[in-house]
Amino acid sequence: MLSLLDVINGRLEKALERAFPEATEVARKAGRPLDPQLVAASKPEFGDFQINGALQFAKLLKLSPRQIAAEIVDQLNKDVDFLKLVETVEIAGPGFINISLSSTCLINELQSRLNDSRLGVPFVNKNESGHLPGIVVDFSSPNIAKEMHVGHLRSTIIGDSLSRIFEFRGYRVIRINHVGDWGTQFGMLITHLKDVAPTALEEGDSYDLGDLVAFYREAKKRFDSDQNFKLKSREEVVLLQRGNVQSLKAWKLLCSKSRDDFQIIYDRLDINLIERGESFYNQFLNDVVMELDNLGLLVVDQGAKCVFLQTSTGKDGKALPVIIQKTDGGYNYATTDLAAIRYRFQEVPNGDGAFRIIYVTDSGQASHFSGVFEVARRAKWVPEGGRLEHVPFGLVQGEDGKKLKTRSGETVRLRDLLDEAIERSKNDLCRRLDSEGREENETFILNVSTTVGIAAVKYADLSQNRITNYQFSFDKMLSLQGNTAPYLLYALVRISGISRKAVNLDISLKTFEFSQKQEWSLLRKLLKFDEVILDVEEELLPNRLCTYLFELSQLFNRFYDQVPILKADGIPRCSRLALCKLTADTLRLGLGLLGIPTLERM
Ligand code: ARG
Repeated sequence: MLSLLDVINGRLEKALERAFPEATEVARKAGRPLDPQLVAASKPEFGDFQINGALQFAKLLKLSPRQIAAEIVDQLNKDVDFLKLVETVEIAGPGFINISLSSTCLINELQSRLNDSRLGVPFVNKNESGHLPGIVVDFSSPNIAKEMHVGHLRSTIIGDSLSRIFEFRGYRVIRINHVGDWGTQFGMLITHLKDVAPTALEEGDSYDLGDLVAFYREAKKRFDSDQNFKLKSREEVVLLQRGNVQSLKAWKLLCSKSRDDFQIIYDRLDINLIERGESFYNQFLNDVVMELDNLGLLVVDQGAKCVFLQTSTGKDGKALPVIIQKTDGGYNYATTDLAAIRYRFQEVPNGDGAFRIIYVTDSGQASHFSGVFEVARRAKWVPEGGRLEHVPFGLVQGEDGKKLKTRSGETVRLRDLLDEAIERSKNDLCRRLDSEGREENETFILNVSTTVGIAAVKYADLSQNRITNYQFSFDKMLSLQGNTAPYLLYALVRISGISRKAVNLDISLKTFEFSQKQEWSLLRKLLKFDEVILDVEEELLPNRLCTYLFELSQLFNRFYDQVPILKADGIPRCSRLALCKLTADTLRLGLGLLGIPTLERM
């Protein structure tokens, strides 16, 4: 109901002006106009909107907040345009004003939502140069020659959902897979492979990623224990950095092996990403160091070039450094991230031309990002209004609260995890079909169990407040009860069932009427969709969209169970069908923005 919020705000500003002409004039001239603070009501008992401003004006106006509220209400009650929209305006508590919308107003909103494929969500405005504002979402970002782990899965699912929301809003979204494809580890791996499996460096098919991961582990062991190996590995990195043909070929081969493996997961999860790994920024690392040096930000500390932070100190109270270039001349993870920030904010074609950059990684990287962000700001690589945001998330734990492991104690492979979700969802489905005496063919079973299994994994992740650690439980995420994907999908299936039975679902031209409280609460919830989307866009918390969709499904189920829909008597049936249709549209769009496809039957 954001458009209504604007309309009511307009009326409210007028009322405020009439109630307190001098004070509003003075405030306006001072460039700080009085803000009545109209917001969506925090609880349904408070109506639809609430005005919180009266409490703030008390000092200025030398009146009690309740007196101020009474003056405002008085003026609002004289405004016919305003009165057309509202049912009641009431003063509450110390001086809040609660507003409930009139039924005509709510029904008009329903009408317009039914004819709006965006369900009230506005399109973003173009920026001054006439372009759609750009947002870089840096997510997933696994490391080459290593297995993608559950942390990367979380990043992938959360980053994808945020990207979908931005895209729906109309932003130019650049989905970046910042893969770890550069650094000493390649020197190590290539040196080791030359010794033990040279064919792996020459041709593609002789080994798979599992082998590479094992080779990587062995290489790391040798690197840590064998001085000679360490030396050779360093030389190998230098060769690679200098663009030695053979080294590059080996490196590319390793990358493409991993890429193929990652892609299997992305395909199954329906994730789009542009791979632009750390290696891409090599070409800019020198410039980064030079610019920092020219700005006088670089300090040489024990041979390493550092920038000392102004905002974070270590345990000893001394400023912490961000190491830009190591004593041996090598660059760090942070250096690459600085080059990336610089590139992402720079205008197209020299960069991405973004105004907002979002990083989705585990919270363990929080201090890395806050350090890098500070350096980027001080280097003036962040344009005016530019935003840098780390979207941290907690660990994925098993049901025992410990790190997620397989029964035999190994780290869980993502592929196996998805397979298991689908397998379990298939078992649940077959059991349910059995108990309901239903017969379905193989295609149906495969489609439903795959959709539900993947949906359950995604939704379980998204519905948690991402900051907290998250306990992975197949039983919970696949349950038909509670805040789960199957519960939401099932609400939609119920509506599809109704539409199949309702012969004439053409509701576009009818006028609606409601009489039951279940209808009104469902309608009010439906009309909040746009607010939720804008809130997630700002706060980067997809769990708020999940909570909304869950509460919507609960209200719908209550309505479905308690109010006759197809056998409605006394009121035009189309009103209830309209609620069903808008619920279905909202669930479908909302789930779509979470990256979850829906089902007609399940
Ligand atoms: N490759 C890193 C990891 O696996 C994540 C990279 C995140 N993005 C970034 N720009 N640093 O932890």
